[in-house]
Amino acid sequence: KLQAVLFDLDGVITDTAEYHFLAWKQMSDQIGIEIDREFNEKLKGISRMESLERILVHGKKVDEFTSEQREQLAKAKNDHYVSLLIHLTPEHTYPGITELLEQLREHHIPAILASASKNAPQILASLGLADKFQYIVSPDGIPGKPAPDIFLKGAEAVGADPLYCIGIEDAQAGIEAIKAAGMYAVGIGEHDLLQSAGADIVYNSTTHLNLSSLLQMAGMK
Ligand code: G6P
Ligand code: MG
Repeated sequence: KLQAVLFDLDGVITDTAEYHFLAWKQMSDQIGIEIDREFNEKLKGISRMESLERILVHGKKVDEFTSEQREQLAKAKNDHYVSLLIHLTPEHTYPGITELLEQLREHHIPAILASASKNAPQILASLGLADKFQYIVSPDGIPGKPAPDIFLKGAEAVGADPLYCIGIEDAQAGIEAIKAAGMYAVGIGEHDLLQSAGADIVYNSTTHLNLSSLLQMAGMK
């Protein structure tokens, strides 16, 4: 019954959600805006330029930067972020992920990457996971999370009915996107935060992910 599993990347497959936070924090500090981890929950799953916009709104500095300056700020953040990625190796894949991908392969269930990140292909390559996914959704030119488009595009690419898809996310916006797409939503992270976003089930770590419990939970055995 299960037709595809769609994975978010940052914070689900590896710890790059933390790198995004560190890079945004340094950029924000430089323009006199303070961001903390609670605010950062609102950046998870959100595209680069939209994240910058949210930071400027948060710091009440929206009017202080031209679009050219915004491009420069976003570039500085991304350059810093990319410099943190050079240390990524297959050992940085979160526990349980490689095993779940292997179980999906054995059962001929497509694994799809549904990330908003333009750096996703490079990260998958560094983790040695590039060939484990049947399809990598490009976020270019489609509405970002919490809109369902990234997940719908992934399902469509492999001919899967969203009703028989499972999405896995660490971000509130991501869980909302999965639910808007009509899929079963698995949250990785803080229970109350992700449940209030609509998660059908929340695990505190990827260690708990495995195909048979997912099928059971989602009623797709
Ligand atoms: C993911 C992350 C966000 C990030 C976005 C864009 O959704 O959760 O924190 O802003 O991707 O990433 P990029 O690598 O393109 O800047
Ligand atoms: Mg994420």
